[in-house]
Amino acid sequence: MKTMLIAGNWKMNTNIDETEILTSQIIDGITNNLDPNVDVLICPPSINLSSASKLIKDTRLRLGAQNCHYEQKGAYTGETSISMLTSLGCSHVILGHSERRSYFGETNQFINLKVKAAVQSNLFAILCIGETKDERDNNKTWEVLESQLFSCLIGIDGNLLEKVVIAYEPVWAIGTGLTATNDQIQEAHARIKNYISEIKGIPGRTVPVLYGGSLNEKNALEILSIQDVNGGLIGGASLTSNSFLSIINSAQRVIN
Ligand code: 13P
Repeated sequence: MKTMLIAGNWKMNTNIDETEILTSQIIDGITNNLDPNVDVLICPPSINLSSASKLIKDTRLRLGAQNCHYEQKGAYTGETSISMLTSLGCSHVILGHSERRSYFGETNQFINLKVKAAVQSNLFAILCIGETKDERDNNKTWEVLESQLFSCLIGIDGNLLEKVVIAYEPVWAIGTGLTATNDQIQEAHARIKNYISEIKGIPGRTVPVLYGGSLNEKNALEILSIQDVNGGLIGGASLTSNSFLSIINSAQRVIN
């Protein structure tokens, strides 16, 4: 039986009022209406996690952050620690997003420290990987994905792997309206799963892989139906309740 995680990455959008309205609309939309095999996660900006946290209490909506630091506390101006996130009820944290890699210079080595710290603290780490257009055009897609997976997952073995979710987000598909083809998605997801099982010595057990990159209410049913897709990481289309709820609905149709 396939399970699905539908995750909204709100990026640097929504002020406090907008956070509360959108969170409440999503809660209303899923209450009494969510398949047990579908999980729904929102990742608002960290400054608004606290207000979202109050609203999601006693609901099935899960809360995640878009980033964290790997140290427990200290002199890291502007950063958010994992215990700050878990004390707000966060269950997930997005790490290694391509926007953090390209705009903030995050390296695989730096991301690895965060993934390790997150999973050791029982947070699910949604590790984002993906190739640029140039890399795909030069047949370097797998080389890039393999190197991101290898480096970001160093030291994460055994039970810790149960807290890892991979998001395959081709950089050229993010916010562009372009999506990878079904074949490109299936090929990448299957390779990611096999590679992790192989290097981590966990044959027969797989890590869930989400697809991200211009996933919306129009293409969700088709993309979520692809065999090795275990959900989606959604940017733009997670910012309005109608489109996000429609994607959740597509996930339920795939499960059933
Ligand atoms: P879009 O859905 O806006 O393309 O963004 C995808 C993404 O970056 C999710 O993390």
